[in-house]
Amino acid sequence: MGQHLRIDVMTEDDLGSVLAIERQSFDDPWPAEVFRAELRHSWSHCHVLRGEAAAVVGYVVFWAVADEVHLLNVAVDPKVRHQHLGRKLVDYLSAFAAEHEARFVTLEVRRSNTAAIALYESAGFRSVGVRPRYYANNDEDAVVMLLDLGSTSQVGKLPGRESGA
Ligand SMILES: CC(C)(COP(=O)(O)OP(=O)(O)OC[C@H]1O[C@@H](n2cnc3c(N)ncnc32)[C@H](O)[C@@H]1OP(=O)(O)O)[C@@H](O)C(=O)NCCC(=O)NCCS
Repeated sequence: MGQHLRIDVMTEDDLGSVLAIERQSFDDPWPAEVFRAELRHSWSHCHVLRGEAAAVVGYVVFWAVADEVHLLNVAVDPKVRHQHLGRKLVDYLSAFAAEHEARFVTLEVRRSNTAAIALYESAGFRSVGVRPRYYANNDEDAVVMLLDLGSTSQVGKLPGRESGA
């Protein structure tokens, strides 16, 4: 799989494959109209991860507004999970945010979604709050997670002992 992987801008032609993954991934999947609306918004970024024969194996949707990037949706085809493809999509989002000089990447995730929370933690996100009963379909709480790009970019700039600080 590795040598075939590439990330492309999502198009209308990808929607059949994206919706198939979406329906296998969520109890309350986005309908086609929601993806179509995201494809139209100038502030929304929709990308697909392609594997062998350019087949869609995952996707990510995020908004870039002012100094914040907000993750709305990410999923990987259940047939190819646990191969670090989700991490590839999250790292792509973080790299996009850093390149566009965003200060934060934020997201909400269901409290019960331990796979996604572990993925985000592995990519440097930390939990910063809870939105009670955020998900209308089952009143589940959302965990708010944040990647602070400002603080990571300072890591190399801390004064050393030899500077006298
Ligand atoms: C969450 C999701 C995108 C992860 O995709 P994936 O390609 O299987 O994840 P990766 O292989 O990149 O995993 C990266 C890291 O995340 C963590 N992780 C991923 N899946 C995990 C699981 N089921 N249980 C525990 N940790 C998990 C691990 O730390 C893993 O690193 P490791 O394999 O070195 O231990 C995938 O499970 C999915 O599509 N879920 C349904 C949709 C969803 O919930 N999206 C998030 C909405 S907020």
